[in-house]
Amino acid sequence: MTILIEQPQLDSQVEDQKLSSETNELVLDGGFVVPKTVSDTELAAEELVSNNEFLAPEINSFGRLFRDYDAESERHKTVEEFYRLQHINQTYDFVKKMREEYGKLNRVEMSIWECCELLNEVVDDSDPDLDEPQIMHLLQSAEAIRKDYPDEEWLHLTALIHDLGKVLLLPSFGGLPQWAVVGDTFPLGCAFDESNVHHKYFKENPDYNNPICSTKNGIYSEGCGLDNVMISWGHDDYMYLVAKENRTTLPPAALFIIRYHSFYPLHTAGAYKHLMNEEDAKNLKWLHIFNKYDLYSKSKETIDVEKVKPYYLSLIEKTIINIHLR
Ligand SMILES: [Fe+2]
Ligand SMILES: [Fe+2]
Repeated sequence: MTILIEQPQLDSQVEDQKLSSETNELVLDGGFVVPKTVSDTELAAEELVSNNEFLAPEINSFGRLFRDYDAESERHKTVEEFYRLQHINQTYDFVKKMREEYGKLNRVEMSIWECCELLNEVVDDSDPDLDEPQIMHLLQSAEAIRKDYPDEEWLHLTALIHDLGKVLLLPSFGGLPQWAVVGDTFPLGCAFDESNVHHKYFKENPDYNNPICSTKNGIYSEGCGLDNVMISWGHDDYMYLVAKENRTTLPPAALFIIRYHSFYPLHTAGAYKHLMNEEDAKNLKWLHIFNKYDLYSKSKETIDVEKVKPYYLSLIEKTIINIHLR
């Protein structure tokens, strides 16, 4: 699996990208069949029964509750400052510009495993629960899901790749600031729901007082579907674009997980549901399953990378996603 990712040229004119069917393919080979849609395989989240119930720990690796944004510590001051910057700078126009620029996907090519290893250089300032190398988080999530859902290889792969977009923090991918890569995500173009962490900082966002964007539906209509909603820019939307623009055959539920896994106001607080359509409601059930592993597998239980690497390499081999751009 190779990924080609663009180098941003923020000051340059955005050109229309015509994706060639010859050069923009996501190819699956080997014996593993990735279902095209959830309904194709009659997969339904509620029908999946795990052999072993995943036991979510109550405290994180720092000995505190997960996602506790009020705790007093140096780490939490960093997290709060992160959200202050994120809430001020993520505007509708900013996201539009980033999607146009990064949608080109024309810069870097590397294998999925290389990309996983590259993430070791990344530290996520927004995360109060994690101070370990990112590859450990990817493998902890994927291994925990694999244990409970051994047959859902697409879900193992989704877990392995869900955070790869964090490479945006690295110089070769544009070296974007933390607030433009990580943290919880939220829609732009409509009112910022109170359930967003550190909501108070939105008051300094230029969209906050916009007469349309400050209403409940904003520029959207009820039930329009999340596909039509602009979400704050970060590693989620970026990895979603990478997969989508390369015509991935991962099931829609996988793309939904990748794009919305940081959308805590929706999947945990239940906000913004008025923008969802029926398809979103189905996929949300998968995201709820995934989220448990994404969040609670962040523990001090380390994975022997070399031991599990052959499995993931074979999975990548079987589910080759050759991404060719241009
Ligand atoms: Fe993430
Ligand atoms: Fe994650």
